[in-house]
Amino acid sequence: MPIDPLRHICDDPLERKWTWIALVLAAFMAGILGFYAVGSNIHPPSNVETIDSSRLHLTEEFAEDNLGVKTNPDGSVTVTMVAARYGFYPPVVEVPVDTPVKLRMASADVLHGIHVPYTNMTTMVVPGYVSEVNTTFPNTGEFSMICNEYCGLGHDHMWSRLVVVPKTAGGQS
Ligand code: CUA
Repeated sequence: MPIDPLRHICDDPLERKWTWIALVLAAFMAGILGFYAVGSNIHPPSNVETIDSSRLHLTEEFAEDNLGVKTNPDGSVTVTMVAARYGFYPPVVEVPVDTPVKLRMASADVLHGIHVPYTNMTTMVVPGYVSEVNTTFPNTGEFSMICNEYCGLGHDHMWSRLVVVPKTAGGQS
């Protein structure tokens, strides 16, 4: 007699029990993800802006001389960075605490990611697109900006420093 696998799953109480356990576990884990995404104010970036990655150096914004931290007239700060194998440029970024920061970043070669542990700053840096993140850093200190998308042999060594300084000294570097 041929075995009907579907019939077997539906009829066996033990199979049914384990199917339910697996489904409940998956729902529980998805719930945890959702809880932390909402609780930590993590959301997908909404910026869709394309750029020619092979000509970054010829663009106004991402030319080498224009990278770094700029203070806007309203007091907020814009940080312009390039991710390239294997580093973020500029390698040290200094921003003031409790100030709106707009990070704009483009990749010069392959897929990279930027993640600043203990903050909500994290985004993929996809070649061909400008990644934009708006955030505010509530604590002063030195943080690592690390690449969190595997980009090649030097991936483990791809990182920059983010320094969050008190407001009075901030953003003028
Ligand atoms: Cu860049 Cu990993």
